[in-house]
Amino acid sequence: MAQLNRRHLLQGTAVLGAGLALRPDMSAAMRVADDLAPRQRILFDHDWKFAFGHAFDIARDFGFGGFQSTFAKQGLSGVTAAEADYDDSTWRAVDLPHDWAVELPFVNNDTYSLPAPDKRREYEEDEAAAHGYKPVGRKFPETSVGWYRKVLKLEKGDELKRLTLEFGGVFRNSTVFLNGYILNQHESGYTPFEVDISNFINTDDKPNILLVRVDASLGEGWFYEGAGIYRHVWLVKTARTYVPQWGTYIKSDISGAVDIETRIVNATDADKTVTLLSTISDGDGKAVGRLEMPVVLAAQAEATVNQTTKLTEPRLWGLKDPHLYSVRSEIIEAGAVVDVFASTFGVREVVFKVDGFFLNGEAMKIKGTNNHQDHAGVGSAIPDGLQIWRLQQLKEMGSNAYRASHNPATSELLEACDRLGILVLDETRLMTSTPEGLGQLETLIRRGRNHPSIILWSIGNEEPQQGTPRGAKIARDMVRLVKRLDPTRKVTAAMNNGQGYGITASLDVLGVNYYVTRLGPVREKYPNLPVVGTETASTLTTRGEYERSESKLYVPAYDVTAPKWGHTAENWWPLYNATPNLLGGFVWTGFDYRGEPTPFNWWPSVTSHFGIMDLCGFPKDNFWYYQAWWSDKPVLHLFPHWNWESGKDVAVWVHSNCEAVELFVNGKSVGRKDVVKDLHLEWTVPYQPGKITAYGYKGGKVVMKAERKTAGAPARVVLTSERVQDIVMLKAEVFDKDGVAVPKADNLIFFDVEGPAEVIGVGNGNPTSHEPDKALYRKTFNGLAQAIVQMKRGGSGTVTITARSEGLASSKVTLKV
Ligand code: GAL
Repeated sequence: MAQLNRRHLLQGTAVLGAGLALRPDMSAAMRVADDLAPRQRILFDHDWKFAFGHAFDIARDFGFGGFQSTFAKQGLSGVTAAEADYDDSTWRAVDLPHDWAVELPFVNNDTYSLPAPDKRREYEEDEAAAHGYKPVGRKFPETSVGWYRKVLKLEKGDELKRLTLEFGGVFRNSTVFLNGYILNQHESGYTPFEVDISNFINTDDKPNILLVRVDASLGEGWFYEGAGIYRHVWLVKTARTYVPQWGTYIKSDISGAVDIETRIVNATDADKTVTLLSTISDGDGKAVGRLEMPVVLAAQAEATVNQTTKLTEPRLWGLKDPHLYSVRSEIIEAGAVVDVFASTFGVREVVFKVDGFFLNGEAMKIKGTNNHQDHAGVGSAIPDGLQIWRLQQLKEMGSNAYRASHNPATSELLEACDRLGILVLDETRLMTSTPEGLGQLETLIRRGRNHPSIILWSIGNEEPQQGTPRGAKIARDMVRLVKRLDPTRKVTAAMNNGQGYGITASLDVLGVNYYVTRLGPVREKYPNLPVVGTETASTLTTRGEYERSESKLYVPAYDVTAPKWGHTAENWWPLYNATPNLLGGFVWTGFDYRGEPTPFNWWPSVTSHFGIMDLCGFPKDNFWYYQAWWSDKPVLHLFPHWNWESGKDVAVWVHSNCEAVELFVNGKSVGRKDVVKDLHLEWTVPYQPGKITAYGYKGGKVVMKAERKTAGAPARVVLTSERVQDIVMLKAEVFDKDGVAVPKADNLIFFDVEGPAEVIGVGNGNPTSHEPDKALYRKTFNGLAQAIVQMKRGGSGTVTITARSEGLASSKVTLKV
């Protein structure tokens, strides 16, 4: 945004969001599941206590593992914090989702000493840099083990129920204790899991002490992964005859045929006959199908029930109209409803052919991005509202697909993609056929298979065994499992080598990372195998920078830099767009993320430069390249800023989908150029203060105008906000006295909050900034800073957020809660 306009000023003071006051805990699943009585699904995110343990010092790890007796006697783990009378008053109060890694200072723990600049291994990754220089891992025993403690309040009658805790995601290696009993150990930092606590609750007046030990000493990826309980936790109470977690599997096709498979568990000692009533409703809540069936349940056994029906003229799920049906599954016993389970599904047809991808019969290119789960201010603990906001930015850019790299996406992200109309490639973390690997894969599929957004399962990414006979064996076992659990979807894997060999034989769709030149053997041996670019681009840009700086470690935001395996946007998209047997691709990446600061893989670089947007989701200039060629919006984006040394030759670029663009410097034309599809326009202009103006033409007429003016000194900060659920995304932008954005502004901004809300994180997208993410202040980086505000639970009234900075006029946003 180059210029301060009226809209900015209005936004700065307007009362926003009154009509958007959704319940803070209201995820998509909850809206469907609002009335699940007698089942209760209670959000368990609040009132936790947190303390660091220690990775090898038993005394500092609350006795965990002392005298090797942890498992000797059940309920006597020797862990002091598990005791009811343990005093946790020195522990810190936290709410979930929580990522403790993002709260820690950056620490330079490079594994090699920095070579001279000319000897630096530009594209070689240093392990510490790869993970974003946070003190988590084997070298940091004091800050790699975290303990969470909470008193679990139960109600009368709960002892008769089945009680489970659903964990959405814990990084990683977690141990769950209840009342001293170790009930679960879960290695994966990415798969959700459930813990049955029914037998271990205190039925007298004693408090129930829940404790979770989380050990992030080992990583699973080569990128920042966070640490802690970074997703929601739910307490679920059901009768002992119930539908288990992810207990329905709904298959449908565009003829309207629907097949609902429902698992029912009878965890009582009596044989019984129940009725399964499945009611299908459309997106408006109107019942469109009612299926009733008696089910005979043996004592302590599970039954799988299939019900089929046909919807007349089904309303399809698509990118523009992501229509969802819901299914309410009721178990009725002796006339009474004993359990209710809610699911959603969408009716759509996904077809991959060698020369085309089709959604509901419509041919389209996959215009996707890869993303890690990481944002400024909050790390991997992304609130649902922010999750949605990030997807909205991608959609705004014209992207239609999201690859969860390189791990299962969180459930809330899948729900949001279902509702926003975004295609998903969901990926398992481990490419292995070990019980652990297959277990993670099974969770990925069972959890995800009702989501219409998911179009492909990926069994792995760039694994060393990808092109080998061993890889082939592993892939066969993995794909066999996927097909058993979900015969409706195709399977892929992301290969950067060995394409045509090894695992290729098991894939329905070949995922190619970067090296389209290596597709020869695939085309020859598997001429009908569809190919998708699971990773493309890896273009390197720093927001607001237009020159490479070896001292500041920045790359220009022009579309000119890529690592040796990657491409600029213009080097991959035009090729994919023009080649029918490349079905589209996923850009590496939509957003910058912590770690992998290529091409400067050394301190003080802490975040990547790969994003089309920075770590805050502020667009870099390539955002408009993609928007011009991916979306149907009119685009005319002119850059760079207009503050240079006099006389300097400046490359002026335009991303536009107009037919022609004419550029003016201080009112004088420097030429009109025709736009060539999928490419930018460029002029070289000697700098003189004033302004540059671009006019976009269609049918010979000017239809758009963009301008950049030389900015003066910073004079004011302007705060604008966007609200999603209980989250408010605030942008602080620095302008001069005439309302021109100051391109290099690095003013320190303070965010003051009045009312029932709090700042949960700040950022500015600077890849070398070591400022804290958890703070009430932040410097702007190239004119911008972000604060993420969360409304307080149960709060009401007015929230006022002021951005102030010394010497600048301040700005306010007021919101109704
Ligand atoms: C790929 C890898 C990604 C990321 C990317 C950077 O090889 O799969 O995780 O590291 O390179 O370009």
